[in-house]
Formats: sequence, C-alpha cells, structure tokens
Amino acid sequence: MLRVLLVMVVANLLGCCCANENVNRKSAVGDPGMKRDGLRVGFEAWNFCNEVGNEAPGMGSPRAADCFDVIPTSFNKNKYQSSSLEVEIQHKVTEAHNKLGVGKPFPGLKAEALTNPDEYAAQKELYLGNLCQVEDEDKSPWQFWMVMLKNGNYDTKSGLCPENGKKVGPFPPGRFPCFGNGCMNQPSFHHNPTSLNSSSSHNNHDLTLTGGFWGTYDSDSDLSRGIIDGVSYYQVTWEKQLGKGSWSFKHKLKTSKKYPWLMLYLRADATRGYSGGYHYDTRGMLKTLPESPNFKVRMHLDIKQGGGPKSQFYLIDIGSCWKNNGKPCDGDVLTDVTRYSEMIINPETPAWCSPISLKSCPPYHITPNNTKIYRNDTAHFPYSAYHYYCRPGNAEYPEQPSDSCDPYSNPQAQEIVQLLPHPIWAEYGYPTKPGQGWIGDPTTWDLDVGGLSSRLYFYQDPSTPPAKRIWTSIDMGTEVFVSDKEEVAEWTISEFDVIIT
Ligand SMILES: *[C@@H]1O[C@H](CO)[C@@H](O)[C@H](O)[C@H]1NC(C)=O
Ligand SMILES: *[C@@H]1O[C@H](CO)[C@@H](O)[C@H](O)[C@H]1NC(C)=O
Ligand SMILES: *[C@@H]1O[C@H](CO)[C@@H](O)[C@H](O)[C@H]1NC(C)=O
Repeated sequence: MLRVLLVMVVANLLGCCCANENVNRKSAVGDPGMKRDGLRVGFEAWNFCNEVGNEAPGMGSPRAADCFDVIPTSFNKNKYQSSSLEVEIQHKVTEAHNKLGVGKPFPGLKAEALTNPDEYAAQKELYLGNLCQVEDEDKSPWQFWMVMLKNGNYDTKSGLCPENGKKVGPFPPGRFPCFGNGCMNQPSFHHNPTSLNSSSSHNNHDLTLTGGFWGTYDSDSDLSRGIIDGVSYYQVTWEKQLGKGSWSFKHKLKTSKKYPWLMLYLRADATRGYSGGYHYDTRGMLKTLPESPNFKVRMHLDIKQGGGPKSQFYLIDIGSCWKNNGKPCDGDVLTDVTRYSEMIINPETPAWCSPISLKSCPPYHITPNNTKIYRNDTAHFPYSAYHYYCRPGNAEYPEQPSDSCDPYSNPQAQEIVQLLPHPIWAEYGYPTKPGQGWIGDPTTWDLDVGGLSSRLYFYQDPSTPPAKRIWTSIDMGTEVFVSDKEEVAEWTISEFDVIIT
C-alpha cells in the first residue's frame, strides 16, 4: 500500500501524470508545457556575429546551465494526508562547471578548442548538455530550454564578423553602435542555483522552486544593490510550485547608452545539429523538429514593461536554415542561409512595408485559401501586416526592388520576414489588432505557426524544388533595436509547448 502511494506521489511530483491530458497530442519538446519539476535550463551569450570573441574576465565561457532532479528523501505514511513527503534538489551542474572557460579542459573537449573562445563555448554547450540530458522512454534525449542573450554592438574596425559568411577586413565605423574598444564584450554572469523555497508554505503543495541568472554588460559596475541608472542589465528567474502548474520564466532586460541594442530570448532549440542563427552543433529542447505546416506553438505571455518604441517584441520567432537552391544547410557558410520569421507585437512598431516602399515587403502574400497577392497589387496586398522583409545577401535572382538583410550579424547570409498584428493572420490564431497581448493583456496563445509559416514568402532560386521548412529554433522575447535612451522590458513566459499536428 505504502509503495503504491509513494509511486503515485512521485509520478505526480515529476510531472509524469499527463497521460490523460495529452492523449492526441504529440509534443515536440522534452518538457511539454513546462510542467516538469526537474527543470533543465541553459544560458548562452552571443556577440554580434553569434560568437563569443573574448570571455568576460573571471566569468568563464558564456555558457551555463541550471539542471536538477527533485528527489523524494522520506515519506511519512501516517501524515501523508497532511503531506509530509520530503524532497531534495539534486543539481546536475555545479558552479565549477558554469565557470569553465578557455584554458580549462573538460571531458570531451577537443584540443584545438582549448584556447579558442568561440569553439570552447560551442563545446561547453555540448558538455553541459551531457550533464543535463534527459533520456525519455521514447529514446529521444533532450537537454534544456535556452536563455539567449545577445549584444548588438559591432566594432567594425575589428574585422571580426564575416559578411554573408565571407571573411572581410575592417571598415570605418558609423553603421553600427559601438562606443569604442571592447564594445563587443561578454556580460558578467551571476547565478542563483534553483532552491526549494519553503518560506510561504503551509504544506508541501505550496513549496516553491526558484532560481535565476543575471548580470550586466557594464563589467565595471557593481550590481549588488540591484538595477542602477546608466548600466545595462539582464535577468531571468524561474519559479514553480512543486508538483503543479507550469514554470514561470520572468525576464528583465535593460539597455544603456553603451549597450543600446540588446536581445533576450527563451528558446526551444534543436537537441542536435544546428539551431537557428548558430553554426555549431547545438543542444536544446526540440526532440522532434517541427515542419511547416504541421505544428502549433502554445504559451502564456505576460508583458509588464515593453522596452520602449524600439523594442521589437517577438510574440514568436522561428529560425531555420536552408540554401537558396532549397537544399538543407550543411555548414558551408557561403551558401547556407539562416531564415527567420517573427511576429512583432509592440504596437509602436510601424509597418515599413507600404505601397511607397515595396522593397520592404515580400514579393507576394499568400492568403489562407492559397491566393497569391503581389505587392504591387495596391488594392489587395496587406501592407500593414508586414513590418519588414529583407532578402538573403547572396540571393542571385531577387525580385526587385529589395533590401538585402544585414550581412554581418549572422555567421552566414540571412533572410528575415517580420510580421505585425493584422486581420489577415486571424486564421492562424495570431494577433489581429495592434496592442493585443501587449502590456496589461496577458494571453495564452495557441498559434498555428506551422500553417502560417507554410505560406510565407522565402527566397529561392528560380525553378528549384521548394525547401522543406523544418524549424530548428522557436523562441520569444525582445530585441531592443538601438534605443535612444535607457529602456526596460519585463515579461513572463509560461506553459511553452510545441505540438506536432
Ligand atoms: C519564496 O517564494 C515566494 C513566492 O514566490 C516569494 O514571494 C518569496 O520572495 C520567496 N522567498 C525566497 C527566500 O526566495
Ligand atoms: C479567398 O479569401 C479571400 C478573403 O480572405 C476572399 O476574398 C476570396 O474570394 C477567397 N478566394 C477563394 C478562391 O476562395
Ligand atoms: C506586379 O508584379 C508581378 C510580379 O512581379 C508582375 O508579374 C506584374 O506584371 C506586376 N504588375 C504591374 C501592374 O506592375
């Protein structure tokens, strides 16, 4: 009897009780709906070219993780009704692991990566992935949700970033923010390892698990008294009630004069292969890769502060990679092309696409009933549904006029399709009016991302077979795109799931 009860309680604690709930749904992620007490969360910081460049002094390589299991330690039969089950947190990753940086070996590290900060970080992600990996019954291992932080400063005099994948030399400053030497630095990194917080509890069911990551790019600043004026800041804390509900990921991002362009996302990345925008083998959450049109994304988003007029808040951002001839990417940065599509929900974000700026629009729009509307059809094209479209820098036969996407901010050429709320997206469950899901309108979204992304325009060379649209990264968060003043964005994500339909 005791044994049976224990098993039931443990199953409940570990979040394995969802068999009835999810009969007809196949989740693509390791932790459907963020319900699992034993959390897996990783951290990665990128510079403008999605690399590391130089590590921040004393911080190690900017890859870290907080992964743990919740283990029952004792169980009192008599008092079960008053919930006297005791549990402890068993961490998989130590602070010594998180502090690993160039020059420090770890199991599996390739010799040539030991002193190369870019390759070291890529391999550290794999190592942390090994420590965190969960082996599901279906034999598809998964590792972690990924917190991604990126600094948009680019020191053009450094010649550090390739141009559409090609090595190029330094060029004069002016096009990108940079305060001078060191503007592409990595942030400080601090960690509150997840702990069980019993302060507010009357019984076990009120026990709360909490932990977090935070830091700043202004490495000479003291954060011990919290956020201060003039200093950039990022923070992600996670919280969950033991045995019930979903994790809540609370994000905060603050720009500063020196760091006016910052990005903070929560990503579900592929568990192997490349993930969107990243040209090293990756670890993540997507144990099945979703392919258009057959998947949906569900999550709850609560935005407390928007981050100002330049904050391109992505309700959803999907990333992938395929070549202009439709073939899958293979790591050749000269022909691989990163593809992104993003729904921006900041109502202050204007549509750059318009009848007088056709170059900012995709060549055509496809309606849910598969009618193609060309952008020169001013009576029918939904201009205000598109913030901006730019073609891959290496597209050989683009429809003109067109803008080429920024050639430096990805390891290879990229293509971006940015959407805005519009009635044309109603069919897919996307926002139809500016302001939906914005500050003061917390919303549980059920987005037909697969359906919508199957009908978006993406560039391909003429008469090549259409690429399979398989997405290796699905994320949300904000990109404060060169703020004029210090801005703060604050938001919470919970119940994140990717469902194969
Ligand atoms: C414990 O959790 C509660 C509820 O989330 C929170 O208000 C409180 O600050 C936490 N206490 C500690 C010590 O973390
Ligand atoms: C497709 O839908 C549009 C409205 O979105 C409608 O005006 C049009 O008649 C439809 N076309 C077909 C072929 O059903
Ligand atoms: C509109 O664009 C399409 C595709 O580029 C082209 O075939 C068509 O001739 C254009 N129509 C007008 C009126 O310019």
